[in-house]
Amino acid sequence: MKTLSIDIRRAEPDDARAISEAHRSSWQQAYAGLIPHKPLRQMLDRRNETWWRKATRGSSTMLVVEISGIVAGYTTLGLSRARGLPYDGEIYEIYLRPEYQGMGLGSVLFIEARRLLKSLGCNGVVVWCLEDSDVASRFFRSHGGKDVAEGMEDFDGTQLRKLGYVWH
Ligand SMILES: CC(C)(COP(=O)(O)OP(=O)(O)OC[C@H]1O[C@@H](n2cnc3c(N)ncnc32)[C@H](O)[C@@H]1OP(=O)(O)O)[C@@H](O)C(=O)NCCC(=O)NCCS
Repeated sequence: MKTLSIDIRRAEPDDARAISEAHRSSWQQAYAGLIPHKPLRQMLDRRNETWWRKATRGSSTMLVVEISGIVAGYTTLGLSRARGLPYDGEIYEIYLRPEYQGMGLGSVLFIEARRLLKSLGCNGVVVWCLEDSDVASRFFRSHGGKDVAEGMEDFDGTQLRKLGYVWH
């Protein structure tokens, strides 16, 4: 019998290619039809392997979730960018490759991201997601998040509403 091992660890520069592939496939699946084609393509092209290599050395913390040695997804976290909200921490992004979604890996990654923010001294966590992103909203609600904030995001002239889910 084969045993599947799940591992969550800090991203390293050598993960850049795997993260860029996870990012591309997850964003295409999550946002095609939601974010207009041109700005979505530009965002995907900008975040190539080189961009991710630099990002692994950047100021936000990046974790990957690996299943049997394959990078299934990533999360980035750090201080909240929204001034005026009483939550210090923010999970900036959490994305899994489509073929690894719905198996509980996102939950493991999300719980570890929150634990890490707490251990870094952050009180409270916010995560922003597009209002029309049903999977993301269901996921954050299933983890007890409350959407207490809202804002707008501009994609090349198209304004989309976003929701801020929070945890104390
Ligand atoms: C959101 C995401 C990280 C969740 O990770 P996941 O491993 O798929 O989620 P889990 O298997 O841990 O599921 C936890 C809960 O989330 C909800 N959920 C997850 N995937 C779902 C889906 N495809 N449809 C509906 N609900 C879903 C369910 O309520 C689920 O609870 P249940 O297992 O009791 O039914 C992942 O699905 C993903 O990368 N999605 C696309 C990108 C995205 O939207 N990222 C967030 C942007 S802010």
